[in-house]
This record gives sequence, C-alpha cells and structure tokens, in this order.
Amino acid sequence: MGSGRCRRLLVVLGVLVVLVVLVPAARGDCGPLPQLPGAEPPEDSKDQQSFPIGSKITYRCVQGFAKLPSKSDTTQCLENALWSVLPEFCDRSCFSPPRVSFAKVSAEDEIKNFYAVNVTVSYVCNPGYKNSTDELPTSTCHENLTWSEVPELCERETCGPPKNPEHGTVVTTDYLFGSKADVICDDGYELAPGPSFIRCYLHKDGVAWTPLPTCQRIQDVSPLASTSTVGTTAVTDAPKSLEEKTSEYRYILPLIIIPCIIGIVVIVIWTIKKCGVKQKGTYKPNPTNAGDEEQGPSCQERKTGP
Ligand SMILES: *[C@@H]1O[C@H](CO)[C@@H](O)[C@H](O)[C@H]1NC(C)=O
Ligand SMILES: *[C@@H]1O[C@H](CO)[C@@H](O)[C@H](O)[C@H]1NC(C)=O
Ligand SMILES: *[C@@H]1O[C@H](CO)[C@@H](O)[C@H](O)[C@H]1NC(C)=O
Repeated sequence: MGSGRCRRLLVVLGVLVVLVVLVPAARGDCGPLPQLPGAEPPEDSKDQQSFPIGSKITYRCVQGFAKLPSKSDTTQCLENALWSVLPEFCDRSCFSPPRVSFAKVSAEDEIKNFYAVNVTVSYVCNPGYKNSTDELPTSTCHENLTWSEVPELCERETCGPPKNPEHGTVVTTDYLFGSKADVICDDGYELAPGPSFIRCYLHKDGVAWTPLPTCQRIQDVSPLASTSTVGTTAVTDAPKSLEEKTSEYRYILPLIIIPCIIGIVVIVIWTIKKCGVKQKGTYKPNPTNAGDEEQGPSCQERKTGP
C-alpha cells in the first residue's frame, strides 16, 4: 500500500513537471518584448503581448543614442518561447561631425556612424586649401552630444601675383584660391572674344590662374574687314578714328531700335485686344453675375425645377 501511494505520488509529480516544462512551449509564443536601455522596438510591436516562435524584432536606438558597430539589434523568439538575449547595443553618440568649407572629415572617421562622448575626429584640408600649422583640424564629441568647433587650420592656397597680358593689366590684390581678377586692355586694344577675367582655380595638385585673355589691337569692324581679319592683321597703326567710332554705332543703334519697335507693337496689339474684350463685357468679376452669360439660364432652370 505504502509503495503504491508513493508510486502514484511520483506519477502525479512527473505529470506536473512535464506540464510545467511543456506548457509554455505548447502555448508556442514569447511574451512581451524585453526593455533595452537606449533602444525601442518598432511602434507596431511595442504593446504586443505575445509573439509566435521564430519572430524576429529589430530595435532602434532612441534620440541621442546610436548603434554600436558590430553589436546586434535584433532579438528572436526561440523554440523555448524565450527571447534571445540581446546585449546593450545603443550608446550615447553625437550626430555626424560638422561640415566646414575648408576641410572634410578624414575617410576613416567619415565611415563611422557611432561617435561616443570624448571621441575626436580629424579633418583633412580640402583641395585648394593647405594646413597653416603642423596640426590638422579636429573636433570632439562633447558630453552634451555637440561637436567642438572645428578650428580653421586650413588656409586658401595662393596662385601668386598673376602675369599681365601683352597690352593689358590684371586688376587684383587677392591671389588666393577662388579669387577673380578683371583684365583691362591698354588704349587702342580690346579683349579677344572669351572671358574678360582670370580666376585662381584648382589645377593638377594645386591651384593656378586660368589662361590669360589676350588684348588685341582694335580693328575696323566693317563687315569686309571682320571676314578677313586673319589675313590683314595690323595693317594700320592709326589710333581709333572718329569714323571707326561711328561705325560702331551702325551696329549698336539697330540693336536698340529694333527691340523698341517690337516692344511698342506688342503693347499696341495687347491694348487693342484688351480693350476689345472689355467692350464685349464677357468677363465680369462678380461671380453672382455669372448667370448673365449664355449658358446661365439652363443652370438656373435645374435649380428651380425641384
Ligand atoms: C570624457 O572626458 C572627460 C574628461 O577627460 C571625463 O571626465 C569623462 O568622464 C569622459 N566621458 C566619457 C563618457 O568617457
Ligand atoms: C602641413 O602638414 C604637413 C604634413 O602633416 C607638414 O609636413 C607641413 O609642415 C605642414 N605645414 C605647415 C605650414 O605647418
Ligand atoms: C556643450 O558642451 C560644451 C563643452 O562643455 C559647451 O562649450 C557647449 O556650449 C555646450 N553646448 C550646448 C548646446 O549646450
């Protein structure tokens, strides 16, 4: 009797153990998602109470935090109906380092997307700029997740004093990268077609002035001469005569007068059209008067019908 009762007790105990072990697995789901510091699950699964086995949930870092590289951000509901352990993967991080005109973040720091407090990133001078000291600019992520100001340790490279063109002068006091200088020709000379200035620009490994414009002797601009300039260069040494000046006006005057005439004609046509329209009285600004038009009466009929 005593051993029978003991055996029954053991069976009951065994069944209880089996139930305790099997029930959660039989239910086949994981409970609510674990809380992780600095991270949050997607909005749609935040308040969900159960998840089927095999569910994968990817967390994201909250504001001011960023994902630590090489750490996982995804947890999975395992066969035993428990969430896989997810170590902390979000930590306080600055945003991307500040952008400045004179330098860019070094390649090795640029590719990072996690910048912890006290981390320092280095910069390299942009093309057209060179380091003014032995140091290169850096910036550090502060405790309050802002970056320290990037010191302006890169200065614009210089193209040096530009040469003057023959029969002309370059007007400038600024020889630095990006500067622009006008070219003025001596009396009796004019700029050849093309730009009237030079610019200190990026060239090969450094900077250089763009090619100098040429100053050429002012020629008689009669149609005949202009078609045969190559053959007749520097035939006359005479300074610009009154006749040459008036010949310039021959071309300038039609350029002014013709657009004026076209303009007046357009205005006259437009005025006639506008006045004609007004006389007909088809356009009335008051919308309640819209019924005055030909199609008006049919609209009113439909309204008053029922
Ligand atoms: C950053 O550096 C400061 C000064 O060296 C130190 O007091 C602070 O604990 C550091 N903060 C972190 C998060 O390492
Ligand atoms: C700029 O940096 C280079 C290399 O780091 C260094 O050799 C050079 O002396 C620096 N220039 C100045 C003006 O300090
Ligand atoms: C952040 O901290 C730095 C250094 O402590 C300070 O210079 C800066 O003004 C702070 N910025 C803000 C926005 O609080």
